[in-house]
This record gives sequence, structure tokens and C-alpha cells, in this order.
Amino acid sequence: MENISETQIKSSSSAKISKGLIAVIGSGTMGNGIAHVFAQKNYKVNLVDISEEALKKALITINKNLDRQVAKATLTEEGKKSALANIFTFTKMEDALQDRELIIEAATENIDLKLKIFRQMDELSPAGAVLATNTSSISITKIAAATKRPAQVIGMHFMNPVPMMKLVEIINGYATHADVTKAIMELSVKLDKIPVEVNDYPGFIANRILMPMINEAIYSLYENVAGVYEIDTVMKLGMAHPMGPLQLADFIGLDVCLSILNVLHDGFGNPKYAPCPLLVNMVTAGKLGIKSGEGFYSYQHGTKDLILAERFVRK
Ligand SMILES: NC(=O)c1ccc[n+]([C@@H]2O[C@H](COP(=O)([O-])OP(=O)(O)OC[C@H]3O[C@@H](n4cnc5c(N)ncnc54)[C@H](O)[C@@H]3O)[C@@H](O)[C@H]2O)c1
Repeated sequence: MENISETQIKSSSSAKISKGLIAVIGSGTMGNGIAHVFAQKNYKVNLVDISEEALKKALITINKNLDRQVAKATLTEEGKKSALANIFTFTKMEDALQDRELIIEAATENIDLKLKIFRQMDELSPAGAVLATNTSSISITKIAAATKRPAQVIGMHFMNPVPMMKLVEIINGYATHADVTKAIMELSVKLDKIPVEVNDYPGFIANRILMPMINEAIYSLYENVAGVYEIDTVMKLGMAHPMGPLQLADFIGLDVCLSILNVLHDGFGNPKYAPCPLLVNMVTAGKLGIKSGEGFYSYQHGTKDLILAERFVRK
């Protein structure tokens, strides 16, 4: 961890996103959603990914999601056109960051990749720019330490699907300046989101509470306390959760759940976060949930009907 110098504090205390110039790095599930919500609020968004193909796919998704809003009459045809016109795509960060006030990284969840991207973001963007990450589990403090401006680095954890979900978990790294937090909280409100400020410890709040619940549901299945249907039904009908924890795990991706549990386990050194052996086995066997076609449920015929995976049908 570097020391925060006077200049870093001074430059960060003027954190302003007044011209509305944003960049988003990574145009996958989260990146295209983040670009969508900023563009809809008239921010100019430079969207960066490693290939033209990924960017093309992102624009198709954004177009489709804007259409859905138009169909629901929550957006006009004009609003859709103007949102699309606010998004500019790039395959090179060098071309996309020179004049940006805020850059949000939403690339693949891999620590070495994120540290590399943040070093580039730091090098290529103006000194006053705020650098944010949408990471679900990597330490903001660690990411900030890869830059020369740790006071201007912050977590902006949007939820999936971004255009629908109200919450943004705003995560202060150890060195994040209070003015940067204030600017990002205010900006989130302008996007019609509800920001919640938390500090940088493993899993932040969302995953620190959600992942042990999912893990406990998997342990309950592993110990044969109840079946998949029973566990999810108890939590849906008994706790008014919109989705049971096992269905939710399939939706998030079992590999992602395992990796976040490992972050909690390593970060706190507490055995209560140890991933259930059944989860480990399923990931090893390539049963990752919706994305692989099978997890606790089977998705061979789509995601509309909940069909138990053959292995979990109680005989
Ligand atoms: N998917 C979720 O539900 C969810 C929710 C909250 C936060 N997150 C976090 O958001 C981030 C992105 O997740 P995602 O689900 O959108 O992943 P994704 O795999 O859908 O998209 C990642 C994108 O990053 C791109 N990428 C990789 N290296 C790059 C580079 N060097 N420069 C530019 N782009 C690069 C990939 O090509 C890909 O398009 C992760 O940190 C993840 O933990 C995900």
C-alpha cells in the first residue's frame, strides 16, 4: 500500500463529474448495462472491450433492453435513439480515456487482469479522473494500490441486470477520499439508483451476507436435510425471497459463487466460509448453473420452467 501524498488528496478533493464524460471498460453482462444506464441519462460513454465482436454484441443487447423499456412505455423512441447516440465503442483504451472524468472497470473477474487494467487506466486518463471498479469480490484497496491515485479509486458495485436493479454498493477503499465517495454517491442518485456506502472488507456487504446463505443452502442439500425444491420453497414462501438460494446460485453461476466464497474464506481465515464440498464438486464437473445448462436445475429447455437436474430428483 502506498502512502497517500498531499497532492493526491488535493487532486481528489476536487472530484467532479461535471461534463458527463464516462468510460466503461468491459462490455459484457455488467459493462453493457452500466453503459446503458449512463447513456440513458445523457452521459457520453466510451465503451471499451478487447474485440469488435464483443462490442457489437453489447450494442445489440443494449438496443434490445432499450426496446423493452420503450414497449413498457418507460422510455420514448426519442429517448432510445439519444441513449444509443451517447455510446461510442473502442477496442483500445489509449483512444478512449484521454478526456474522461470517470472510468468504470467492468472486465472479467480476475485479479491480475484488473491490476493491469487499472495501471493502464491510471496512465491514460486525466489526473483528476475517478477510477471505479464493478468487482464483486476483489479488494478495492489492492486495486487502488496498483495506481498512483489510490484516493481516487472506489468500488461501484452495480447489480445484475443493471438497468433494472436499484442498488449500487459504493465501496470505500482504505485510501478513498471522502469527496470522491460523495461525488460517486451523488452521481448514482442522478442515475436513479440507490447508493449504499460500505467499507472494503472481503465480500463487502452484498456477497458477505448472500454467499454464506447460498453455501448453507448447498450444505443443507449435501447433508440431505431437504431436497432442492424444498430448500428453495422454504426460502421463497417462508422468507418472501423472489428466488430460492439454489436457483439464485444457478443464476449467478456456481463457479462465481465458489470463487467469492474462497475470497471470504481466504480473507477472513474463518472456517465458517469454507465452500461446501458439493459446490466444489459441481464446479469441477462443469455444472455451473444456467450458463452450462445444468446446476441444481436443468436448463436444457430454457429458464422459464424450473426443472430439477436429474441428479437432484428425489426418488
Ligand atoms: N454478472 C454479474 O451478475 C455481476 C454482478 C455484479 C458485479 N459483477 C462484476 O462485474 C465484472 C464483469 O462481470 P460480467 O459478468 O460483466 O463479465 P462478462 O464475462 O460478461 O464480461 C467481461 C467483459 O470484459 C471484457 N474484457 C476482458 N479483458 C478486457 C480488457 N483487457 N479490456 C477490456 N475489456 C476486457 C471481456 O471481453 C468481456 O466482454 C466482474 O468484476 C464481476 O465480478 C458481475
